[in-house]
Amino acid sequence: MTAQLISTISTPIKDLTKLPQHIAIIMDGNGRWAKNKGLPRIEGHRRGANTLKEILRCCKNWGIKTLTTYAFSTENWGRPLTEVDFLMALFERLLRKELAEMNAEGVCIRFIGDLSPLPQSLQQSMYQAMETTKNNQAVYFNVAINYGSRLEIVKACRSIAEKIEQGELKPEAIDESLLSEYLYTSDSPDPDLLIRTSGEMRLSNFLLWQMAYTEIYITETLWPDFNQQELLQALESYQKRDRRFGRKVS
Ligand code: IPE
Ligand code: IPE
Ligand code: MG
Repeated sequence: MTAQLISTISTPIKDLTKLPQHIAIIMDGNGRWAKNKGLPRIEGHRRGANTLKEILRCCKNWGIKTLTTYAFSTENWGRPLTEVDFLMALFERLLRKELAEMNAEGVCIRFIGDLSPLPQSLQQSMYQAMETTKNNQAVYFNVAINYGSRLEIVKACRSIAEKIEQGELKPEAIDESLLSEYLYTSDSPDPDLLIRTSGEMRLSNFLLWQMAYTEIYITETLWPDFNQQELLQALESYQKRDRRFGRKVS
């Protein structure tokens, strides 16, 4: 029996057809979760990390090939320094703690975003994690850190312009697929489903180009309370959607 078959047998998913291949998640509401409990915001981030671990495992076990999560936006630098410092330290601590297990479980981890302004030791851990897991194929786990979609597109345009200046590319060669190749997500298909927790109905500069035709699911649940059951609900909602891509008429 193949590993994939074994994992699908234990799945709680009722309908195994029409599952999304790629789920993107805006993990929002950590601060409010903590505030509701009279705890400091950082406790929300700590708990949110546990949720992420559970959701990654569900994706892997249920055959969802790619998970892309928003962990820190280019705008999040505007938060109080103590919170930013805590988040950077948390990312590093988690990477060190979880890398061996993720690698053993076949997770291929990739960081998307501009990593250069991040603390040196965090960058080192990130590059080490990407290198260690680069050949894994059980699940592709993209983590957006210092990610902003507009900056991503600007950087892609700059790289393309440089190629043109050097005579390596002609302007006529620029099309949608070429631009996609210059984005951080060039290795992944576009997300099929976006989940945003905490009820906010906005994209907050996440994967603007890539989500042109992504189905959106918003839940009031705050990220630290999100779990396997909630993910199942999101999947069931997705499975009822009629994805038209502008082509079909009803
Ligand atoms: C999401 O939770 C995590 C990050 C942005 C790092 P928030 O910190 O935005 O929590 P709320 O939205 O303030 O509740
Ligand atoms: C989006 O959440 C960024 C992440 C989840 C990392 P924010 O909390 O930063 O977004 P806004 O400010 O509500 O739009
Ligand atoms: Mg928020």
